[in-house]
Amino acid sequence: MSVSKSLTRRGALAGGLAVGAVSVVPTRFAIAQPKPLKVGLMLPYSGTFAKLGENITSAVEMLIAEKGGKLGGRVVEIVKLDDESKPEKGPQNAERLVKRDAVDVLIGTVHSGVQMGIHKVVRETGTLTIIPNAGANSVTRELCAKNVFRTSFSNWQPAHGMGLALGKRGVRKAAWITWDYAAGKEAGDGFREGLEKHGGKVVQSLTLKFPETNFQPLLAQIPGLDVEVVGSFFAGGGAVQFVKEYKAAGLKVPLCGSGFLTEGTLAAQGDAADGIETALHYADGLDNARNLAFRKAFKEKAGRDADVYAVQGYDAAQLLAIGLEAVKGNVEDEANLYKAMRGARIESPRGPMTISSSQEVVHNIYLRRVTNGENKVVGIAAEALADPGTGCKL
Ligand code: PHB
Repeated sequence: MSVSKSLTRRGALAGGLAVGAVSVVPTRFAIAQPKPLKVGLMLPYSGTFAKLGENITSAVEMLIAEKGGKLGGRVVEIVKLDDESKPEKGPQNAERLVKRDAVDVLIGTVHSGVQMGIHKVVRETGTLTIIPNAGANSVTRELCAKNVFRTSFSNWQPAHGMGLALGKRGVRKAAWITWDYAAGKEAGDGFREGLEKHGGKVVQSLTLKFPETNFQPLLAQIPGLDVEVVGSFFAGGGAVQFVKEYKAAGLKVPLCGSGFLTEGTLAAQGDAADGIETALHYADGLDNARNLAFRKAFKEKAGRDADVYAVQGYDAAQLLAIGLEAVKGNVEDEANLYKAMRGARIESPRGPMTISSSQEVVHNIYLRRVTNGENKVVGIAAEALADPGTGCKL
């Protein structure tokens, strides 16, 4: 164990006697009570991604409740922190959880820029971290770390599926539109690479600052671009507004993108989303027993419909459960904890899901089309798609 870790973790070994018990109960009757396992949730509970953070949280809590409130035999205590999707506060917020609150595990976050702040802190302290959304490519590529796993996606993955599907169907010229930050840029790279594999290209990228929504100057350029399709990455509240304004602008060029564009947003987007094609590792209507049971249970618990964010949160908790069960709650047994997590085969609502050697999720990317207010699966854009994991040595 590194020095910094021994200072920052509580070093709570599972199976240790509760301190107070010894003085009042004869030792031979004492029941070993493992200390609670502190799980920090660093997520956005305000701002354009607030709904994403809420669905992740509800699903993490749901899995823990399904396990009787315990993982690996330890009662779970959750500590929540609103990161506001503000990258500049990322390192400080992660330190609060890891050092002040001494969490055993950190689950977070949604925004790629904030993730980089978390990553800096947890690489130093060695805190077990599971990413339930943010797709920043580097955390499972050149900056990969033994203590960091992801159950969501790399930014490259869904957009790559979209690019592949368009390229295969003969699209030659596309534009890309997004927020100017890591997720938008990396998704754009995935889209372009997919398209290029089949001879297409991205002729123009249009960007605006995160989380701005002044889309009009960008939309005004589209008719002049001579493209067959516009690919995009937007999510949350920004995606709702973008899709509505795209429709209102009366543009003839079809809109598509990473599936976040129409995920958890369809009720608010209404007719404006009709016909939009996206690629994602999930769709509401996936017809597997796990998904049906998950959606029903989530609706009962949260009073909202599940979406990809809920699935990613649920799977973060499933992965944690697998690891902790293997080491009976002893997070200090890192070798066996990480080994169990790396080897996990998770029955996810998204379908089969495994963890790659760079600790990134491997899953199908579905092609979806919005029909009657639903993301209907119309095909598989890429089967068991693994991120290239370029530069990761573990
Ligand atoms: C990201 O910043 O990595 C991000 C945010 C929201 C999404 C997807 C990716 O829906």
